Amino acid sequence: MKGLILSGGAGTRLRPITHTSAKQLVPIANKPILFYGIEDMAEAGITDIGIIVGDTGEEIRAAVGDGSRFGVRVTYLPQDAPRGLAHCVLIARDFLGDDDFVMYLGDNMLEQGLTEFVANFEASRANGGGAAAQILLKPVDNPSSFGVAEVDAAGEVVRLVEKPKDPPSNLALVGVYLFDTTVHTAVRSIAPSPRGELEITDAIQWLLSNGHRVRHEVLEGWWIDTGKKDPLLECNRLVLDTVETRIDGDVDEASVVEGRVVVEAGARLERSRVRGPAVIGAGTVLRDSYVGPYSSVAEGCELTDTEIENSVLLQNCRITGVHRLADSLIGRDTEVHRSGQRPTATRLLLGDHSVVDLA
Ligand code: DAU
Repeated sequence: MKGLILSGGAGTRLRPITHTSAKQLVPIANKPILFYGIEDMAEAGITDIGIIVGDTGEEIRAAVGDGSRFGVRVTYLPQDAPRGLAHCVLIARDFLGDDDFVMYLGDNMLEQGLTEFVANFEASRANGGGAAAQILLKPVDNPSSFGVAEVDAAGEVVRLVEKPKDPPSNLALVGVYLFDTTVHTAVRSIAPSPRGELEITDAIQWLLSNGHRVRHEVLEGWWIDTGKKDPLLECNRLVLDTVETRIDGDVDEASVVEGRVVVEAGARLERSRVRGPAVIGAGTVLRDSYVGPYSSVAEGCELTDTEIENSVLLQNCRITGVHRLADSLIGRDTEVHRSGQRPTATRLLLGDHSVVDLA
């Protein structure tokens, strides 16, 4: 079994944050989203992984490398433009060969690992269950934003439709799929959708329409498509809820660390308070500041006389005099300072290299 991770695309919904960087590299609890997917594959015994990359390919290559740090071998597969998820399968044909494969959308995060999902597919095929594909479904409140599956009374998937105005059910397609080689015929047989993309949903519908079985499982744990700010912050909260306290940096006598908190080596707390769950990245300095629950502060940041909570700060941010920054996503190398005294709450979505003066 091989792995195919989709990390191309333009990421318009996280703009401006992904204007300059890949949305799959935005950190959750200070680890890029993409790394969780690679680790899940490695854990499921999938070590031969193709990664589809687009405009942000260089950045993804720099972050992931050859995959050896994850115990996998990575092959990069450039896509000239985001022409759809099924187009990714099309261009990965040579890499995939005649192997079964798991396809994983690089901006999706799942609580549950892949091991059982993969094992169930293989077991059903060994038993003569004969499914050409396996999909993962999750009931959601807003099915129109996803691919949606219709399951009949016998529990079989009978229809799939991409982002329908009038959804046939509340069962969304999660961004993890398993395929055998039949999908290669499917992706060659479909036409682009009204949004101009070759949809994987249409390819799976093609399998159904042509008499192939599509097995499904309903996901038990949480699942988040992190392509937007609020789901991203929610995902950060869910992952921070699982961190174990580890203080490798310096905490001075006037500072307080409460609850589950990670302070990485080289980080420094001066007259500051961190209330977990929270993570403070390597080399970050907090001076006279408060970091509240559900915050991730990446490496090399400097917070001075500042309060934050429920926020994700990317690398090398400098925040001064801000009381208090909440529910925010702040890009790399960003500067935010308040020169006036008014104590108000601030909510920001700032791209890389922004400079904001909250006078
Ligand atoms: O998150 C689950 C949903 O993902 C499914 O319910 C939908 O059926 C499926 O179409 C997909 O919808 P999105 O509109 O959220 O897909 P998005 O364009 O965000 O792309 C998902 C990932 O694939 C993302 O990491 C970017 C990458 N990608 C996307 C396209 C269109 C590529 O690498 N190449 C592409 O051409």
